[in-house]
Amino acid sequence: MKNLTILLISLFLGTMFAQEAIMGTEAQRAAGKVIYDAQCSQCHGYDGDAKSVGNDYLRPAPRAFTSGTFKFRTTESGELPTHEDLKASIRDGMPYTSMPAWPQFSDKELDNLAYYIKTFSEDFIDYGDVKPIDMPSAPSFSEASAERGRVVYEENQCLDCHGNLGRGDGPSAPTLVDKWDQPIRAADLTKRWTWRGGATREDIYQTFVTGLDGSPMPSYNIQPPEDQWALVDYVYSLGASDEADYATVLAATLVEGDFDISQGPAIFDNVPVAMFAVAGQVIEPGRAHYPGVNSINAQVIINETDIAIMLTWHDMTAETEGVNGPNMQVPDDDVLNEPIEALISDAVGVIFPSEPTVGAEKPYFMMGDKSNSVDLWFADLASSDCDLYVGKGTGSIVQAESDIRIASSFEDGKWTVLLQRSLASENGISFTPGTFTPIAFSVWDGWNKERGNKRGLTSWYNMYVPPLEQVSPVGPMMQYALLTLLAQLALVAYFRIKYRKKEEEVA
Ligand code: HEC
Ligand code: HEC
Repeated sequence: MKNLTILLISLFLGTMFAQEAIMGTEAQRAAGKVIYDAQCSQCHGYDGDAKSVGNDYLRPAPRAFTSGTFKFRTTESGELPTHEDLKASIRDGMPYTSMPAWPQFSDKELDNLAYYIKTFSEDFIDYGDVKPIDMPSAPSFSEASAERGRVVYEENQCLDCHGNLGRGDGPSAPTLVDKWDQPIRAADLTKRWTWRGGATREDIYQTFVTGLDGSPMPSYNIQPPEDQWALVDYVYSLGASDEADYATVLAATLVEGDFDISQGPAIFDNVPVAMFAVAGQVIEPGRAHYPGVNSINAQVIINETDIAIMLTWHDMTAETEGVNGPNMQVPDDDVLNEPIEALISDAVGVIFPSEPTVGAEKPYFMMGDKSNSVDLWFADLASSDCDLYVGKGTGSIVQAESDIRIASSFEDGKWTVLLQRSLASENGISFTPGTFTPIAFSVWDGWNKERGNKRGLTSWYNMYVPPLEQVSPVGPMMQYALLTLLAQLALVAYFRIKYRKKEEEVA
């Protein structure tokens, strides 16, 4: 009898401690609730059901913790995340979604939050005792393995969603919806920095072995194991870097002789590429809460007479039918991607101040302002023209005569748009060699029904147009370095002479 009591007590204590390891103590959950109600509930809802003010606007939508479904786990498909998985998701956030990172929370606070989140789904009490999958250590990357990985990529239909070159443009991509019936995009595998499960080769392994529950991204049991790492290597080879290498300046390159955009992108060979971050316009009505494009690449060349700009960006589908325009009206309450009947085409815009700017002063980046207008080079990709508009704010955009030429093409999920004009023009801004000009970009994703003020945009950057006599972009910098050196030498000489004079005086 005594033994039985001890057994029962130890069983009871055992389950209590096991329970506590998963669910924390009451005090911990209460401490988690305080932070949660203050910092998380506006998106995830007080009851963890994502019924919140944020939910109507944010895509992907904030997670409903009541669903017990989690994307980023080290556990098998269909299982709950580990305690550490939850902490990592909170600490690191979800880049390129509205879920912030919370580096300010202590380990204890993260613990408390994770315990509290678990109370929203009973599953944690029943099945919360989960183990991470066995993570083999990654063999080193090899080209041969990546080459084999291409075959594995095709065999497993990754291509169907992620596209031939991984740009998120597979044939099924436009049809994808998540468990909560919201449209969702296949990740762009060339931009590892936009992933939420991490950018390392181990992270890629984990993503396709465990799957992203709640999203259309399945889990895969690929055999033999060598093929798993071959696939990892191929996916890894699709992107050039782990981090986004965003530019702050766009330096034009002076080239010798004539060029014409009808010659195609080859005229930009060896010209440096500047990548700029694109975000949804959410400041004024007609907001883009779920923009289709998150970065744009630009290259610029000039010669004695002309300037040409090459823009490239990744887009799930090319919308080359329908219309688009910077003045198209979007209802104020068009918070999400309300399906509208009209066919909207893809479009891109380059924005400059209409007049040379003085110092750091720039027109309002949205579309200029009353006293400082902007020139908008607007290319509706359903037409073969590039229009010129003069903007004095988003409510006042007027078309002007354009002498901008355009050539465009779309392949494997990438738009390429070439624009050309003479450096000096009666129609809009003239570019003065040897100066900086503010430049900004806008992109409209027609699939997303982006039109008018509903668009992706960048902030202002500077475009450097080199002087015409320097044929290398290194030129101005060398010149600057030389001048600085000469000035320093002169200064040294001056002090030496002065010092010597003093010495002579003393002597
Ligand atoms: C501004 C809105 C916003 C706030 C504030 C916010 N989140 Fe989120 N959170 C999101 C969105 C959106 C997602 C879904 C991202 C996705 O599906 O890729 C998300 C997802 C999550 C996930 C799920 C990860 C997974 O694997 O599925 C966790 C856990 C989470 N948030 C915890 C928190 C905690 C804890 C806080 C407060 C400290 C918080 N969030 C604050 C928007 C928010
Ligand atoms: C049915 C469509 C579909 C298929 C097939 C598919 N994926 Fe995905 N994948 C997605 C979606 C959708 C996302 C984005 C999920 C999200 O944003 O929550 C994604 C995301 C990813 C990510 C980024 C995860 C992160 O950390 O953000 C990687 C890497 C990935 N998939 C690799 C693969 C590989 C490799 C294959 C083939 C073995 C594959 N996918 C097959 C739809 C698919």
